[in-house]
Amino acid sequence: MPSLSFILRYFRYLHKSVTAHGLHSPYMYQLMTEVIEKSTSRQDVMLPEQLRKKLLASKEKIQVTDLGGGSHFTRSDWRQLRLLARYSGRRPGPGKLLFRLVKHFNPDVVLELGTSLGIGSLYLKAALPSARIVTIEGCPNIARLARRNISESGASDVEVIEGAFDIVLTSDFIKRLNPRMILFDGNHRKAPTIDFFNRLADVATSETVLIFDDIHWSEEMEEAWESIKADERVRVTIDLFIFGVVLFRKEMSKQHFVLRNWDCF
Ligand SMILES: C[S@@+](CC[C@H](N)C(=O)[O-])C[C@H]1O[C@@H](n2cnc3c(N)ncnc32)[C@H](O)[C@@H]1O
Repeated sequence: MPSLSFILRYFRYLHKSVTAHGLHSPYMYQLMTEVIEKSTSRQDVMLPEQLRKKLLASKEKIQVTDLGGGSHFTRSDWRQLRLLARYSGRRPGPGKLLFRLVKHFNPDVVLELGTSLGIGSLYLKAALPSARIVTIEGCPNIARLARRNISESGASDVEVIEGAFDIVLTSDFIKRLNPRMILFDGNHRKAPTIDFFNRLADVATSETVLIFDDIHWSEEMEEAWESIKADERVRVTIDLFIFGVVLFRKEMSKQHFVLRNWDCF
């Protein structure tokens, strides 16, 4: 059940957001009409949706390791897969929006921070069958299951790396991988979000696209989002409530858009 403050943040977003009619930028108008306002057929996202269905019916339990402040393991617990799929896995509405965004930007290499059971990685794979998709998961048992789920879905070329973000995301790793798109869906806290943003923004080119999950989830995440918007390397930000998109395109002037999106839940 979402908190009252989350519901208030959603209504504040709705009030601020604009539809295609309120957009003067041709780039944003096209993004709105051809990507955000479009729908996605079930056929297109069959891979992740079949996996979600299977996991929701699962009776399996695993011991999970929650990653606390960056790289420290703070708590261990047993979780039912069906609850992990329900609460941590990508939901269908945002999954379909992610599918369209990723397809639109068409990066050759995508890095996902936070694999969980692999549902989100399969939305990426469904959108970009021939791209290199690399996903990082800090909990060893979850990473093992993600690999199993992804390979049983026939997407074994999705690379699951097991490790804490702050250990894996060295500048060497980022330079070698050279991701054109990075999806931040792991640690929903302010300091780590800004830290990982800085590591990736340092090597971002004009074509790099960052997508932050749940930018309005908490006050901390809203603060992180405001600080990312203000960063001088960032040109354009797009607030879709469930996602925050960051562009570095040098030809664009610094601007922040809040676009109406109904695929939030
Ligand atoms: C919200 S879930 C990811 C959902 C997934 N992207 C999807 O769309 O289905 C976040 C995952 O990130 C992992 N995680 C959180 N903090 C992390 C960290 N600092 N390093 C590595 N993994 C982390 C958690 O173990 C969890 O499985």
